[in-house]
Amino acid sequence: MDFDRTALIQAAFAARENAYAPYSHFKVGAALLTKQGKVYTGCNIESATYSPTNCAERTAVFKAVSEGERQFAAVAIVGSLEGKKNTLITSPCGVCRQVLYEFGGDDLIVIMAKSETDYKEMLLKDLLPLGFGAQNIQ
Ligand code: THU
Repeated sequence: MDFDRTALIQAAFAARENAYAPYSHFKVGAALLTKQGKVYTGCNIESATYSPTNCAERTAVFKAVSEGERQFAAVAIVGSLEGKKNTLITSPCGVCRQVLYEFGGDDLIVIMAKSETDYKEMLLKDLLPLGFGAQNIQ
């Protein structure tokens, strides 16, 4: 599927502005593209009790799925400490890889961006090899 990577990364940066990260100060934004071409965004949302914290990627997936979407083509992720430029790419955590796999499957395109032009692109199957999914429990 052809799509505008720059626009998806820009949407992730815009979503990052809403990150609620008063404890880690690490702000993350994600933009999830449906196979129909619609974009759902998410940011990380932390909790004073830490463990309920929700990552940006899962926020985006849960928003989209709760609106009836189930088929995704790509996700862009950006993250960095408040007020700092990112030196490393932010790759999805293990929990988010599993949640992305549930709906995106092996071929979901994962764009991990430092800027609009500096990013690493991988398929989910290379970030989560041999993913466990619905096919395994049939
Ligand atoms: N975080 C994300 O939102 N996505 C990732 O891919 C990595 C980590 C968040 C969780 C927590 O709020 C903060 O970044 C530091 O771990």
